[in-house]
Amino acid sequence: ARSMVSAAAPPVKGSLNKLFIPLPAHATTELTAAPGLTDLGGGSMGMALLYNGHLPGPTFVVPKGQLVSVPFTNGLDAPTTVHWHGLIVPTAADGQPHDAIVPKSSYLYQFTVNQRAGMSWYHPHPHLATASQVAYGLAGGFIIRDDVEDALNLPSDPYEVPLVIRDANVDKAGNLSYNGKASGFTGSIALVNGTRDAQLEVDRTWYRFRILIGSNSRLFNLTLSSGASFRLIGNDGGLLPTAVDVLAMELSPGERVDVLVDCTGIGAGETVNLVDTNSGWTLLRLTGTGALNAPTSVGRIPADGDALCVDIPTLVAPADVTRRTFSFDGMTRINGLVYDMDRISFEVPENTVEEWVFRTNGNAPHPVHIHGASFQVVSRTGGRRKLFEWEAGWKDTVLLHDRETVTVRIRFDGGHRGRYLMHCHKLEHEDAGMMLNFMVVDPNA
Ligand code: C2O
Ligand code: CU
Repeated sequence: ARSMVSAAAPPVKGSLNKLFIPLPAHATTELTAAPGLTDLGGGSMGMALLYNGHLPGPTFVVPKGQLVSVPFTNGLDAPTTVHWHGLIVPTAADGQPHDAIVPKSSYLYQFTVNQRAGMSWYHPHPHLATASQVAYGLAGGFIIRDDVEDALNLPSDPYEVPLVIRDANVDKAGNLSYNGKASGFTGSIALVNGTRDAQLEVDRTWYRFRILIGSNSRLFNLTLSSGASFRLIGNDGGLLPTAVDVLAMELSPGERVDVLVDCTGIGAGETVNLVDTNSGWTLLRLTGTGALNAPTSVGRIPADGDALCVDIPTLVAPADVTRRTFSFDGMTRINGLVYDMDRISFEVPENTVEEWVFRTNGNAPHPVHIHGASFQVVSRTGGRRKLFEWEAGWKDTVLLHDRETVTVRIRFDGGHRGRYLMHCHKLEHEDAGMMLNFMVVDPNA
């Protein structure tokens, strides 16, 4: 069956433009990137770059094991690709800068989802132009379901809400605008699911928010205005081993968290805000409807400290482990080198645990992202000197602040050989050259 992802209801002014459009099992989903008009909230329509006419793009919801076929059409006036960030896919489907799709042409992205439940995302990754295409609006969520997670009976739609958080600039005419430089980009307003001054009407119960930091450069330090905790249950690579209450989470571009939020105390007309303490912005107002819903009717709410899953093996480094060190230098280089599309920096044997060590000599933060595998964060020395609750389990992006050294263990065991990428996910640093290619190879060759 071939189906266009259906259009969402037109967003109410200022209300959260909530797009949660499940992809039917075994469907082929057409995806198009093109310029278009979108409601940015606050009464303004503006020009942006959109996937299937939406900001953000439609949220794929796919069961583990499914073959995903996405015939993609480039309706932009520049080359683009679609990268499935966090998904472990063959290089031909990884949307790398090498595989540019020229304007007015199409490409079939096809891969089987072979990884545990979690929230990944998709965005352009064209050579030298990732930052601008993302800033102009191209990004969307990709949620994987599996039996382990289903068995937990967590809150589901409408009590499960993806939140794509970013900053943006809007020009006088109301269009998204962009003026990033190698040093980065900081927009003057926040957008949550493409909406400024976002508001979500909440019943008196618990909500599950699937949060993606979709900014180009900006870090967000998330808190609740009520002083309440988030009950953190997952991150980039899915469920954490145990639920844990956290008051604040500092997150960088590309990172995801899965949190439960207690809205049982928000009465009719009352508001609790999701706040970024770095900027002082209110990102999202949670406004009470007063409708009482027993938490048990929306799903199960694990308590602080409850076990969530047992399917996370600890990666153990062999005695003769290969340790690779990467210095993130300035704004444009890794180990002294600017990205070269044709350079393969090293080869990694498949199915082998390695330790990769990230350090920086300035211009941090650098959110370090690896394609082709998830990793486990082992240590952070210097700077903040600790690991955070959302850095347990599986990650694909880890934040490196100034003077920090972060060590991760990684194993490329997704069954795919070939070229993958590692880069800074501050997109302006990435475009300026803070990226490299490596090759996953047969360990016996
Ligand atoms: Cu989200 Cu290589 O990128
Ligand atoms: Cu960087």
